[in-house]
Amino acid sequence: MGKQARAIVDLSLKDLVKDLNKAYADEWLAFYLYWYMAQTVSGRAYEDMQEFLNRLAKDELEHAQELADQIQKLGGVPISNPMDLEKNANAPYMLPPKNTADINRIIRIVSEAEAAAIDVYNKLAKKTQGKDHITYQLVTHILSEEVEHEEIFENLLER
Ligand SMILES: [Fe+2]
Ligand SMILES: [Fe+2]
Repeated sequence: MGKQARAIVDLSLKDLVKDLNKAYADEWLAFYLYWYMAQTVSGRAYEDMQEFLNRLAKDELEHAQELADQIQKLGGVPISNPMDLEKNANAPYMLPPKNTADINRIIRIVSEAEAAAIDVYNKLAKKTQGKDHITYQLVTHILSEEVEHEEIFENLLER
């Protein structure tokens, strides 16, 4: 991002980078959790659950990529050490169920994680609205996908 592009951002770039790095950490934790549960889920209908989890994991990894890109455009550095991811995340890592066949527990974990993500991006959208158009565009794009994720898993629970 050039000088003028940064100059029109009506927020502290340092704060904005910090907020985006927190969301970046959240995305990695969500990716790892969903990916891990996709590898280990067992029992009846495990194949469907594996497919849903892999689809979400792929989206979360994409969100991490988009955030890494924007952090750098704003002059920041994405968190480089994986040991720092949980420390910087908005929420602690949620452990997958010990019973890998507990599909309902998996659905609850994902629904909770998605609800938390919706809160994070809603706050970021409010913070950047009218202040940084490009970051606003990115966080509302991610928000719309988290809304879809929550819906997919809420519907599974209602079945
Ligand atoms: Fe995400
Ligand atoms: Fe998500």
